[in-house]
Amino acid sequence: MTSRHFHPVELIATKRDGEALTTEAITWIIERYTAGGLPDEQMSALLMAIYYQGLNTQELHAWTQAMINSGTRMDFSTLGHPTADKHSTGGVGDKITLVLTPLVASYGVAVPQLSGRGLGHTGGTLDKLESIPGYRVNLTPEEMTRQLKDIRAVICAPTAALAPADQKIYALRDATATVESIPLIASSIMSKKIAEGTDSLVLDVKVGSGAFMKDLGSARTLAHTLVRLGTAAQVNTTALVTDMSTPLGRTVGNALEVEESLEVLSGGGPQDVRDLTVALATEMLRAAGITGVNPAEHLDSGAAMDTFAAMVSAQGGDLRATLPTAHHEHQVVADRSGSVTSVDALTVGLIARRLGAGRAQRCDAVQAGAGVRLHVRRGDSVTAGQPVATFYTDDTKLMVSALELTEQMIEIGPDATDTTVPDGVILDRISN
Ligand code: URA
Repeated sequence: MTSRHFHPVELIATKRDGEALTTEAITWIIERYTAGGLPDEQMSALLMAIYYQGLNTQELHAWTQAMINSGTRMDFSTLGHPTADKHSTGGVGDKITLVLTPLVASYGVAVPQLSGRGLGHTGGTLDKLESIPGYRVNLTPEEMTRQLKDIRAVICAPTAALAPADQKIYALRDATATVESIPLIASSIMSKKIAEGTDSLVLDVKVGSGAFMKDLGSARTLAHTLVRLGTAAQVNTTALVTDMSTPLGRTVGNALEVEESLEVLSGGGPQDVRDLTVALATEMLRAAGITGVNPAEHLDSGAAMDTFAAMVSAQGGDLRATLPTAHHEHQVVADRSGSVTSVDALTVGLIARRLGAGRAQRCDAVQAGAGVRLHVRRGDSVTAGQPVATFYTDDTKLMVSALELTEQMIEIGPDATDTTVPDGVILDRISN
């Protein structure tokens, strides 16, 4: 607790004018805001000043540390298993956590995956898992620890005590157009991950239209910033920079993505989802000291599926129950023949949200069965009239609204020579 008193308007002006804030000032302002002693308008102004002026290394470490100190730190040192976690900066069709968590756990590593809900055009792991009837995302710390000991895999919501400053500040950033700031994103992610107490961490930093980072240079800068913060906190941290110009897999939506995850856990599913899962699992296992294994083997053998079933059952979910489906569907067809040059991640994400799979505000409910199933990928040849996507929703008004965006969703060029398909989903690897 800092004893000195600062004047908030002076601190805002300091940052606005491009000067650095002291560690003491940052600690004071975050403590004060978390305790309800600083109004939203002053924190909003400071966030906007940071958006434009950035934070230097000392300020970034102070900001992250103050957010960690705003709550409790978890401790998994008595589990008897090494711990590893993954964080994605958010994408469209990103169901990787559902497969990766049980896959890595099936090798004896505990994965305490504290996940979030979808916001904006990106989906949230908790919303996806809640489409499994009975699945409980709110666990007590004791339940979480017991499950990590027994099954090693947990995917649940963070408690209110984990970096509460970030929970408040993130909601404010969302309402004030200050999300897309590298120091604010990095401190937000790393405060939660460091407070969670994992031994090692692999970051999936997305780049492309469906991601916060739209170009490779910014994604690399974010990845380096995250890795440096993790390393400074003694968390063994690496990052993969991965493509989010097009959705991952063929489905976007809650139950639709659970269905696709079950395919990957059964040794099938779309190649990009399988490839990225295996690459991230290899990194997590290496960080936990397990080398010389090919994680694809546990997808093909059913070992990862067995761990997923045990995790779902421990959290009250019923995998034998039918997954929810939407009341209405609409097929979108190609308006010409040619080659698919782009399936735009951002547009597909916005369509899924309009259909009811995502939320415009934190308090909105999501539909379990809503979303998009893509029938074509970048590089595929199509003929006019061929189905390219199916939209699902419970509400016909939402269908009309989503259909307004179909023109921007898929681009069809005259022939295959127009299409340069990237080699794979992984664009770079950043380590210390
Ligand atoms: N995810 C987070 O947890 N925080 C951000 O600021 C952005 C993505």
